[in-house]
Amino acid sequence: MYNFTALKDEVIAELERALMVDIGGGRGRALIAIAEETENAWGTEAKVGLQDKPPVLDSMPQESIPSVEKMTKNAVAAMIPTSRLLIGDLVIPAMTKVGEDMSPY
Ligand SMILES: C[S@@+](CC[C@H](N)C(=O)[O-])C[C@H]1O[C@@H](n2cnc3c(N)ncnc32)[C@H](O)[C@@H]1O
Repeated sequence: MYNFTALKDEVIAELERALMVDIGGGRGRALIAIAEETENAWGTEAKVGLQDKPPVLDSMPQESIPSVEKMTKNAVAAMIPTSRLLIGDLVIPAMTKVGEDMSPY
């Protein structure tokens, strides 16, 4: 996983910038893990966005992601030259054998 803890000084120096937007972030699973890893963005009010399709976002009560802004619009336009694009992908083997982990399927 990306080393979010290493961003502490950068984030604190520029709190007006969004810390991150998770595009296709579903129910905010990654954002919750990052919040835990960074102790809620080091106790700051750093902006965090969750972008997904409206039915997905509407299915989540705001209380379940209190400091996260739900977004349905394209976040790319808000990026600047020093923004980072992290791609979280999954390579699923074409085949599995009986008894192996089936969870990716
Ligand atoms: C496999 S889920 C992954 C969810 C999340 N990243 C996670 O790891 O738990 C893919 C997500 O992408 C969202 N998605 C698909 N097409 C999208 C689009 N055009 N714009 C925004 N979100 C999209 C889906 O609604 C779904 O929540």
